[in-house]
Amino acid sequence: MATGGPTMTPALTWDGRSLRLLDQTLLPGEETWIDCHGAADTAAAIARLAVRGAPNIGIAAAYGLAREIERAPADDAVRAAASVLRAARPTAVNLAWAVDRVQAAALAVAPGERAAVARHEAETIHAGEDAASAAIALLGADLLAGSRRILTHCNTGALACGGTGSALAVAIELAQRDDITVLACETRPLLQGARLTIWELRRAGIDHELLVDGAAAGLIRRGEVDAVIVGCDRVAANGDVANKVGTYAHALAARAAGIPFVVAGPTSTIDASIAGGEEIVIEERDMDEVRHAGGALLTGADTPCRNPAFDVTPAELVTALVTERGIASPVTRESVLALTGAAVPAEPRA
Ligand code: MRU
Repeated sequence: MATGGPTMTPALTWDGRSLRLLDQTLLPGEETWIDCHGAADTAAAIARLAVRGAPNIGIAAAYGLAREIERAPADDAVRAAASVLRAARPTAVNLAWAVDRVQAAALAVAPGERAAVARHEAETIHAGEDAASAAIALLGADLLAGSRRILTHCNTGALACGGTGSALAVAIELAQRDDITVLACETRPLLQGARLTIWELRRAGIDHELLVDGAAAGLIRRGEVDAVIVGCDRVAANGDVANKVGTYAHALAARAAGIPFVVAGPTSTIDASIAGGEEIVIEERDMDEVRHAGGALLTGADTPCRNPAFDVTPAELVTALVTERGIASPVTRESVLALTGAAVPAEPRA
């Protein structure tokens, strides 16, 4: 059992004026911090995954826009900067959600007041995501009480979210209560599990084992996993979940074995404007990410590859969606929209 509170390194710092990001592309080998001064450099850091994870992409973009507004508070400049940030990555809805909030707050006041208002809105978003993480940790740990071998995918700790994370925050809370082992999938091609989740688990003093992604289904089938918990990048109104590529395979394996497949994330990740997962834009990244591993070229430099960064798990495979506002289970349009406070539209007529 882990004792004492976990030691987590935040992905970004904000001192009221300046934004610094821990360059996650260099972890775990090197802890290098980069300064971001506005929209363009923050968007570039998001696009190359120096900062990543749906909630932290939103928080970084909010601060990046606030910094830009200090220099250029005119209407057109604010809208242009917001567009640059929104375009940095397509799948995580938290990015557009946070940028829209800062833009709306800024444009609602006179240009001379915009910098202060934008900073305040970004800080409010950040504080809200920190609080969401804390609530998710407690709710998720209550839900998974008794599960001791927890499998997870990608990275969902403090490097990805406010507070101590989303899915990983649940595992960290469980580890304060019980002896657990976290089985972390390496998460090809960029190895967020191997590089980042293991780094965070070591620092938090939580027992862990690293798996290649392809090992997960077999271990689940052999009864070596009690529950799977992952984060999310966008949840459609019907509860379909986009998350790091490979998540869907874990959900299928969990369903076949009859173990819980739980998704954790703040309500900022729910996109009530889209009906189902087929509408989620899946980011396709550079083929070179697939051609390389550990810095070495694996194959021909021009080998054709597919590199979708995310996949969609249908709601019927998700046992529970854990948010700061409560748990949707079963995951249905009604239970998901109840978490957002959005009205449940009438079913279309047959
Ligand atoms: O491409 P990444 O590293 O930004 O992908 C991150 C994930 O898929 C996480 O699981 C997701 O953002 C949830 S973090 C709470």
